[in-house]
Amino acid sequence: MSKTFLPYYFLLLSSSSLLHGILAVQYKVTNNAPNTPGGKRFDTEIGIPFTLQTMGTINTFIWKLFQQPSDSQRKNVPVLNVYISDFQDAFGYTNGDNINISTIGLQSFPPGRAKFEFTSLMYHEMTHIFQWSGRGTAPGGLTEGIADYVMIKSTYYDPQGYTKPGEGKRWDEGYGVTARFLEYCDSLRNGFTTTLNNKMREVYKDEYFQELLGKPLPQVWKEYKAKYGNIPAGSAAAGVKFIVTNNARNLPGGLRFDSEIGISYTLKTMSTINKFIWNLFEQHSNSERKNIPVLNVFISDFTWAAGYTNGDFNINISAQTIQSYPAGRARFWFASLMYHEMAHIFQWSGNRTAPGGLTEGIADYVMVKSSVYPRLSYTRPGEGGRWDEGYGVTERFLEYCDSLRKGFTVELNKKMRYAYRDGYFVELLGKPVGRLWAEYKAKYGNIPAGEGYNLSPHEI
Ligand SMILES: *[C@@H]1O[C@H](CO)[C@@H](O)[C@H](O)[C@H]1NC(C)=O
Ligand SMILES: *[C@@H]1O[C@H](CO)[C@@H](O)[C@H](O)[C@H]1NC(C)=O
Ligand SMILES: *[C@@H]1O[C@H](CO)[C@@H](O)[C@H](O)[C@H]1NC(C)=O
Repeated sequence: MSKTFLPYYFLLLSSSSLLHGILAVQYKVTNNAPNTPGGKRFDTEIGIPFTLQTMGTINTFIWKLFQQPSDSQRKNVPVLNVYISDFQDAFGYTNGDNINISTIGLQSFPPGRAKFEFTSLMYHEMTHIFQWSGRGTAPGGLTEGIADYVMIKSTYYDPQGYTKPGEGKRWDEGYGVTARFLEYCDSLRNGFTTTLNNKMREVYKDEYFQELLGKPLPQVWKEYKAKYGNIPAGSAAAGVKFIVTNNARNLPGGLRFDSEIGISYTLKTMSTINKFIWNLFEQHSNSERKNIPVLNVFISDFTWAAGYTNGDFNINISAQTIQSYPAGRARFWFASLMYHEMAHIFQWSGNRTAPGGLTEGIADYVMVKSSVYPRLSYTRPGEGGRWDEGYGVTERFLEYCDSLRKGFTVELNKKMRYAYRDGYFVELLGKPVGRLWAEYKAKYGNIPAGEGYNLSPHEI
């Protein structure tokens, strides 16, 4: 136990527990990572006394919302631990009657918003502690949806960036998609979600929807989707706002953009690419996506690259590159480039700790998956000298990793939300990345680096 271990104890006695006996929840909060930036931020901006007090408030809120005034209706939780721990991949998770909160998540909260965001997260995590899950028979997406539902009811969330009604492709997709669906079910029957939770004490059944709403679950979902105009999966009701500006009308490439590509084609293509990326990355709700309210594309006068991203919201495309496209093929080459550049906008980069070659490889991976790229001149499998050389070399290596584990690249991107580690390769494929690279090279006869080697068509 380190000397910075700080146990605090707090006893909540609700009025009903005074009436019914001595059942009460004891809260303990421990910062196990006080020397990390996120752990320090917890101590300075949130703190243990605030956390204990907030836990009492949230606990009372949940019991009230779930209409569980007496101990016999509640889950028996003698001690609830919260650990501030150093891990990534999630803001927090529950493990029995314990909640772990990620220091990396804490670090990511916007300035001045730590208490708000932390409280929001605690509504979600504490719901997992007190909700019923039908002894593990409820779909994970439903328990996640109910946890988000409680968070929405608490009003500790950001309605602007949050999933909108009608989004998603499955009722039990979890988080915002399921929470919005539960709100719809509430609108059909007052208190639906509370009743559903309380029915789930021993076992979960889809039939509960029929019992409570008089319609089978698939029909309720279908009517819900229809009510909001059947928003396709992967597209948000309030999506990204695209703006295209041609700042190079004085150049031949800028003129060619206007005559052969055009702003309306670009806007339409951006929307297609955006949906393609969210689907490919399996980011079906806003909570899983990078928050991109607006995305600008500028046709500009520069020559050192075909295109580049500048911050989260801007893509510059070189007018000279557009000028160089083969006759009649401007739209194809432009769209191909846009798959690459827009992947940079929407991909995770481990808060910029991922190797540049990996993010370039994933951007090319998206382009290759779209099929909008010049197949014949593209890098072939086995080429290159390093796994993180970028572009086609890394792209082909990622495809090899996919062949070892279906969905590898998508999972890797998801893992990179807050941080990048080479260790993710071991976690997903059971082998270090250097070993995987050696096996990949051997599979293709160890083509020497530089031989038959091609850059991405957009980097030439
Ligand atoms: C969560 O906290 C417990 C208690 O400190 C710790 O043993 C465990 O390793 C933590 N989990 C992670 C992923 O850090
Ligand atoms: C990302 O990195 C910057 C600077 O390296 C840091 O200030 C910020 O807190 C980090 N954010 C996250 C989510 O780790
Ligand atoms: C990219 O576009 C912005 C907006 O027009 C412009 O200010 C910037 O100079 C451009 N970058 C280059 C390298 O041309």
